[in-house]
Amino acid sequence: MKPEVKPQESFPWWKTTTVYHIYPRSFKDSNGDGIGDLRGIVSCLDYIRDLGFQTIWLSPVFASPQVDFGYDVSDYFSVAPEYGNNEDLKLLIEEVHSRDMKILLDLVLNHTSDRHPWFLVSCESRDNPKRDWYVWRDGRKPGGKAPPNNWRNEIGGAGWHYHEKTGQWYWAAFLPCQPDLNYRNPEVRETMIGVVKHWLRFGADGYRLDIIGNIFEDPLFRNNPMCLTFLPGSDKPGMLFRSHVMTKNHPDTISFMKELRKATEEEEPPQRLLVGEVSGETGLIREFCGKEKPDGLHSVFTFKVMDTPFTAKGFRKLIEELETCFPDPFIPAWAFSNHDRTRRISVLGGSIEKAKLNAALLLTARAIPFVYYGEEIGMEQSQIPMKEAKDGLTPYFYRRVPRFLLPILQKISMGAVNRDGCRTPMQWNDESNAGFTSPDAEPWLPVNVNYKSVNVKSQKNDPHSLYNCYRRFLRVRREYTALSRGGLHLLSLPGLSKGVLAFKREITPVVEAGASEKPNRVYVFLNFMKKRTRIPSPEPGLKAVVSTYLDVPKVEGDSFNLRPHEGVVLA
Ligand code: GLC
Repeated sequence: MKPEVKPQESFPWWKTTTVYHIYPRSFKDSNGDGIGDLRGIVSCLDYIRDLGFQTIWLSPVFASPQVDFGYDVSDYFSVAPEYGNNEDLKLLIEEVHSRDMKILLDLVLNHTSDRHPWFLVSCESRDNPKRDWYVWRDGRKPGGKAPPNNWRNEIGGAGWHYHEKTGQWYWAAFLPCQPDLNYRNPEVRETMIGVVKHWLRFGADGYRLDIIGNIFEDPLFRNNPMCLTFLPGSDKPGMLFRSHVMTKNHPDTISFMKELRKATEEEEPPQRLLVGEVSGETGLIREFCGKEKPDGLHSVFTFKVMDTPFTAKGFRKLIEELETCFPDPFIPAWAFSNHDRTRRISVLGGSIEKAKLNAALLLTARAIPFVYYGEEIGMEQSQIPMKEAKDGLTPYFYRRVPRFLLPILQKISMGAVNRDGCRTPMQWNDESNAGFTSPDAEPWLPVNVNYKSVNVKSQKNDPHSLYNCYRRFLRVRREYTALSRGGLHLLSLPGLSKGVLAFKREITPVVEAGASEKPNRVYVFLNFMKKRTRIPSPEPGLKAVVSTYLDVPKVEGDSFNLRPHEGVVLA
């Protein structure tokens, strides 16, 4: 049978890209105020490009009271003054593009800050023109002093907030200072699609869409039913025995993804990337990208990767599930760390070997890989006391949860109670303030105490470092198109230990491989065990082209050795 030739467009840039996630407040300060900024990021673009990334994503940079550090927007059209101004953003976009890279912005469509002028007007009276821009309801019980229904927010607390002046309740899926916009109002939809288009015209290449599963709620405001889930997981959005079906992943939200996709495709150039922050069962979150065909978001984060046990068995099972739910042309987005969760190396017990293996997995999987700033040098979670936390979420828990439970909650939520620990300044060198800001400035969060040994400068010079491991795998991923475009097939070879995750990445049909001189299939072997193991070679004539160790293993005869926690690509 003749292979079907897929047109090149089936591989737009976003499908093969690699993304570096920047928390702007913490990356690089250019003006010595202790807060990272856009010009700081401009000065580090060569670093990101030379490391091998093709795209950057910035956590929110728009004007905000910064209670939730930009996830509470007070003006969707202006850059927050502490990060610079709109010209600086223009400059950053131009500088990114001049390096042949792309840039994603973070867009918070679900809610605004309670200090956004729209909300302030909405609060003035029951009949003002912006009242219906937010989700307002009468309460129950005489006098309306009980919330309209049993809906809880995403962090386990009350989601309805009483407004004395107008005697009604407003809905907030996250913190009380983040009121939800009412997407059942056509004016809101039109305005927010306008925001989407505005920054695309300004030059952004796409967006990471913040809690996008929460856009619509049940129009009849029915109670959320009971469920068996006590603690939420990435695939179980309910919590405290209450499901979130009426407030999350509503069918109207899933349909709205098509409108977002259409809005991006109406702009020139039409190839942009929309990646959603969602949680729920894998099959359901895939629907955000389209039911029968890919006509919704381009991709969604599959946060299950973060919760998966760090074993070959765990990832084999996860990959099977993802390959079933996200068959080509769908593609999931993988991130092992971000600005909300414990730093990956700390989850892995501080082991550099495991962090290297994790990098090898992330950069060889069939997914859009996202790497959080500092992950490439193994920046660790900082221990910042809850009392001193700058994170707006921490006081919310601190006031409601008994003290003795807080550390437990912090652990089981993977750092979500006090997120300062994963947001500390980037560790550039071993000088005072780790090169993040001027030596005499006070960084907005303390630099991790380990900056003298864990920093970019020392790792760049050390060929065995984690930094250089990321760099090597990123290079191989760019060179071997099978790794960025190919399908994924899990392997079970006779004699292969169960502690090794093995898969083939292959471009089919073969004609597509023309994009590269390299072979159209490669093999990946990841040894999750802390002992050596012998690997049968899947076909004759293969060579290891990259390893998490500096030197690659030699294939002798029909097998080769993998060292403890070693990951390799064979071609
Ligand atoms: C997302 C963001 C998080 C933010 C929340 C509310 O989960 O990643 O940082 O606090 O949404 O916008």
